[in-house]
Amino acid sequence: MKIAIDGPAGAGKSTVARALAQRLGFVHLDSGALYRALAWVALREGVDLGSGADLAHLLATCRLAPLPDGVSVEGVALGEALKTPQVDAAVSQVAWHPAVRSEMVRIQRQWGEGRDLVADGRDIGTVVWPEAEVKIFLTATLAARAERRAAEQPGLDLAQVEEEIARRDEKDSARSVGPLRVADGARLVDTTALTVEEVVDRLVELVRPKP
Ligand code: CDP
Repeated sequence: MKIAIDGPAGAGKSTVARALAQRLGFVHLDSGALYRALAWVALREGVDLGSGADLAHLLATCRLAPLPDGVSVEGVALGEALKTPQVDAAVSQVAWHPAVRSEMVRIQRQWGEGRDLVADGRDIGTVVWPEAEVKIFLTATLAARAERRAAEQPGLDLAQVEEEIARRDEKDSARSVGPLRVADGARLVDTTALTVEEVVDRLVELVRPKP
């Protein structure tokens, strides 16, 4: 079974997807971590973020692989390095290239083959697994999303965080391949006034409705 959770930056998708996967005994695929990992290697190697061909070549050679809940590059798991402002600033540019996206979609489908999983991202219910049994579009107001992100990373300026995620949402929504949008058949869940626990309860209810 596949559960697709899409939505804008900072809506809490990864936290909720991880908790939901745990509750259901499924694995969690964090697709954003894949794009972030490619951005991270590209920054490290000084690859031109404007070149889809160079990024696709890097993706083909850096041994990027999903892990339950994360990602590895060259056999090494990456963690907090993926959450820096430098990666935040580069990731949507990297994720914009059709050549990068098609390969990322292939990697995700291959990894998910035969697995029960909860995957979160931008194009899971529209492109990666349009046949997913349950599709959710998780959202919240821009102010709430910025506050959550700022709370996760103390020291960042709230207004700047808000600007950064608004800019990323715009770039993610405007691209021609795999743009951020509500998938056909997706249930909209607004998390502005909900705790993580409340969101997870609601999603469990959508996956396994009470008789
Ligand atoms: O955690 P947050 O919502 O800020 O972002 P993320 O899920 O880690 O994704 C980071 C970025 O990767 C997004 O802003 C997109 O540019 C890109 N991404 C994508 O294009 N497609 C996906 N399925 C997942 C992420």
